[in-house]
Amino acid sequence: MAQAKKNDASQLVKYAIDLLVHGTAQDWKSHYRLREFQDVMAEKAKDAILLDFEYKDRRKLYRCVNQRFVGNRPVDYLEFGVAGGESFRAWLELNANADSRFFGFDSFQGLPEDWGADNPKGTFSRQGRVPEFGDGRARIVDGLFQETVDAFSRSFTPRNALVLHMDADLYSSTLYCLMQMQRHIAPGTIILFDEFTARDCTDEYAALQDFCQACCRDYAVLAARRDYVKLAVEITR
Ligand SMILES: C[S@@+](CC[C@H](N)C(=O)[O-])C[C@H]1O[C@@H](n2cnc3c(N)ncnc32)[C@H](O)[C@@H]1O
Repeated sequence: MAQAKKNDASQLVKYAIDLLVHGTAQDWKSHYRLREFQDVMAEKAKDAILLDFEYKDRRKLYRCVNQRFVGNRPVDYLEFGVAGGESFRAWLELNANADSRFFGFDSFQGLPEDWGADNPKGTFSRQGRVPEFGDGRARIVDGLFQETVDAFSRSFTPRNALVLHMDADLYSSTLYCLMQMQRHIAPGTIILFDEFTARDCTDEYAALQDFCQACCRDYAVLAARRDYVKLAVEITR
């Protein structure tokens, strides 16, 4: 859809007509989620720590969360979307507590569906190759989330502060994992998102909103990159 600038009344009318007449389903979804996002963040991120960093320096957010909110205590760290293991490895290094446990979930076959036009099904595939971490605290659960996370969640007994890291990009994968883990998600659980506002808030952000609505949960933003693409929330209800 031709994006009219929304900075004056005539442009706003053009934008509205464009959306109504020519907008695709994705345009409508984007419009709704972006509008909602402004109100939601005004409330939930009012006390958040805002950080400036580039993608390659994502550790800055992880370090802040580990030091300020986890306090270097032992964690049960569960990452959904491991790929080559960059963020998983970063957490193994940051939280050196011998009692911490690290679980990584991935099919290593890449995204199971298209993520917009730029990231077709299979993006991030490692042809099934599982990365090695050389750390006895790490365990990889190999397979499609939809075939592994339910059984894992049923048999899992949390021992430590629970930190979930959602890095699967897709709405479907993120919402599925949150729903399957919901029996363990309690006030105090920390959840990190790697692409929170990507694609106009229609994926990871939308999954968190829908999870909270369906499961009567709420959250506050603890720390975020200034554009909210990467952030950490704490479940408050
Ligand atoms: C953006 S990559 C993860 C990047 C990684 N955390 C890093 O720091 O390099 C997303 C990963 O999610 C995985 N993924 C997405 N949906 C999945 C699903 N339903 N089941 C299994 N893996 C999935 C893909 O295979 C891909 O490896």
